[in-house]
Amino acid sequence: MKGVILAGGLGTRMRPLTDVTNKHLLPVYDRPMIFYPLQTLVEAGIRDILIVTGGGNAGDFLRLIGNGAAFGLKHVNYTYQKGEGGIAEALRLAEHFADGEKLVVILGDNIVQGTIAPYVEAYKRQPVGAKVLIKKVKDPERFGVVVFKGAKVLAIEEKPKRPKSDYIVTGIYLYDAQVFDIIKTLKPSGRGELEITDVNNAYIRKGEMTCDIFRGWWSDCGTFESLLRASQLVARNHSHR
Ligand code: G1P
Repeated sequence: MKGVILAGGLGTRMRPLTDVTNKHLLPVYDRPMIFYPLQTLVEAGIRDILIVTGGGNAGDFLRLIGNGAAFGLKHVNYTYQKGEGGIAEALRLAEHFADGEKLVVILGDNIVQGTIAPYVEAYKRQPVGAKVLIKKVKDPERFGVVVFKGAKVLAIEEKPKRPKSDYIVTGIYLYDAQVFDIIKTLKPSGRGELEITDVNNAYIRKGEMTCDIFRGWWSDCGTFESLLRASQLVARNHSHR
């Protein structure tokens, strides 16, 4: 399996922190944000990794990470997303890299405690389709919210005003090669982006989506509050080592 880190976008929600740098290079406790998803993939045994970046500071990723020697890698792949077309549009740039293989996709601002390896291993045994990792949160309206009927997942609603559950889809997605055909059918959402939630709903409609609840803590860094929270969670984790 191969890994993709999505670290594009212009970070407009995080200004002025992102005026002169990419959001994914901002500090989370003692490291640049992008180090965490990279470490998460490497710890799960993924060695072939593509970083999708964008904006005016894309070269800084190469300066910072290079060929990934600090993570025990021999080589890292990079590609460039123009503008802010959304997560699914960024993922489309990975089609050539994926070359028909299954992918672990992680958003560059998603920080997790512990390992995703058990979910990756379970997905390797899944014959077709996708898997998402979900988590119970206090502010579901900020995310893709899972709509259940009993234990069955009916749909995912992107940033609903009235969330139908407290469970949200984290930015950790496992996809087979069908994902690129699905992306080609998508239309831009109200915010003008190709939404990853539309990709996930397409898999749900086909009956080819599994959901696992992620065990450790999880945070995004998409707002000032969540960026601070992520730093605090990482710092607390360090002091318990
Ligand atoms: C994105 C997805 C959302 C998901 C979240 C996880 O939101 O659209 O479904 O729950 O990542 O971090 P965004 O960060 O683009 O607001």
